[in-house]
Amino acid sequence: MRTPMAFPLNFMKIDGIRTIVVRNAPILIILINFMAYVPGVLHLFRSSELSTHMKKSGLYILTLSLALLLVGCSDKKSEKTAGKQRGPLISFSALPKTVRSPKDNPATEEKALLGKLLFYDPILSGNKDVACATCHHPNNGYAEFLDISIGVNGKGFGSKRGFNVPNDIPFVKRNAHSVLNTAFNGIGVQNDYDPETAPMFWDDRAKSLEKQALEPIKALEEMRGRGFSETEILDEVIERLQAVPEYQKLFGEAFPGEEISAENLAKAIAAFERTLLANNSRFDAYMRGDPEAISISEKEGFEQFKKVGCANCHNGPMFSDYKPHVLGVPENNKLPAPDGGVSDTFAFRTPTLRNLRFTAPYMHNGSLKDLRQVLEFYEDISFGRERNPSVSKQHFDPFVRELQLSVKEMSQIISFLNTLNDADFDKEIPVSVPSGLPVGGHIQ
Ligand code: HEC
Ligand code: HEC
Repeated sequence: MRTPMAFPLNFMKIDGIRTIVVRNAPILIILINFMAYVPGVLHLFRSSELSTHMKKSGLYILTLSLALLLVGCSDKKSEKTAGKQRGPLISFSALPKTVRSPKDNPATEEKALLGKLLFYDPILSGNKDVACATCHHPNNGYAEFLDISIGVNGKGFGSKRGFNVPNDIPFVKRNAHSVLNTAFNGIGVQNDYDPETAPMFWDDRAKSLEKQALEPIKALEEMRGRGFSETEILDEVIERLQAVPEYQKLFGEAFPGEEISAENLAKAIAAFERTLLANNSRFDAYMRGDPEAISISEKEGFEQFKKVGCANCHNGPMFSDYKPHVLGVPENNKLPAPDGGVSDTFAFRTPTLRNLRFTAPYMHNGSLKDLRQVLEFYEDISFGRERNPSVSKQHFDPFVRELQLSVKEMSQIISFLNTLNDADFDKEIPVSVPSGLPVGGHIQ
């Protein structure tokens, strides 16, 4: 069903042609049968050696009819499945201007302020060398410069970040998401979302920002290190916070009458993350009614994006269905073993396409370094070329097989993706943190 590059047909047209073939298949069969019989019948009158000729042409007619019937049927079937695949409502809209919070963690300025200081404070890590901001820094759009992160026992920032020597801490096995707009994770095409069950991580394994916030503290290579076990680390961190007078004061203001606890630590960080919004891209302005906000060629790129099938998975205001799909992204060879994603199926969650300008490299393991490489990867897999030895093409997501890309469309799509960047997010870094440790961890 691949169309020649020079005549890119859109889905509507393809459906049109298919419908003509399918609907009119019976008429076509009768017509062809008739055309095949006429010479055969004429031949009958002229020739005496009926048998072999007639057998042959009879057989030919029968095969042809059967083949046509089959084509008709299988096409009907593929049309049905294709219809089903394109079934989910695909639409786009601007991001909401305001954010919802869970019922048991309403947003307050006190919580957000406390959460911000905690986010930059390496006191939360076993060896006091890593903060959330180490891997989610505003200078990198709250994501990470590296393909896969270096947490514990690392030093330096951006391209200069590496492990101290000696080192026995592994790389974090995945590429760090941006924390920008994670307040909207799980948002659907109708702008519906539930902050209490918002999916987090490349495999959607944590639900809500509150639940996510304690995970990196417990992870050996991200923040915990070898000094504490997974069951000890949170108690250790809470004790440390209780010993800092400024934290006592700030927690008291954010959670009046309550103790400093792991639960409130998570709530404060989540409340801060809900302030990290980038919801005023040019695309948002366009969707809110300013037709001039994006250029004509970017509008064409948007049309291509929908036409070639990107929108089957990247849809809604975040450009993500938040569902797992198997694409077979190349492995990152810094890692000792293949990453099986969701329950070892090699599926990963569709990421947002917002703010890509700040968050290269791409994919769950940062194995593709720019958008061109991403689009070339899609072209490869849509032709059935396998880029990951653990994932054969039979396992590719059905939507992948529908993708149809040409080089021209690639550049248009890339220019459209640029309309989804919003550089106007909170870039203010605290001058100091209550523990007195280096702001953001060992990133100097
Ligand atoms: C050493 C680097 C590192 C540190 C430190 C770190 N993260 Fe992450 N973060 C990552 C990586 C890598 C992922 C993706 C992991 C995955 O999906 O399996 C991630 C994912 C996330 C996500 C999920 C976003 C989404 O869209 O699903 C959030 C939210 C987040 N981190 C917040 C935090 C917070 C809060 C802290 C501090 C308590 C923190 N991170 C510390 C590297 C880090
Ligand atoms: C079958 C669903 C599906 C389709 C169709 C699809 N994507 Fe994706 N996209 C994903 C998933 C899943 C990932 C993450 C894969 C991984 O990391 O293993 C992804 C990753 C990406 C990324 C990397 C983002 C980041 O932050 O790392 C970009 C960019 C992207 N897709 C753009 C596109 C474009 C453009 C198209 C159309 C040509 C497209 N996608 C079609 C599901 C899809």
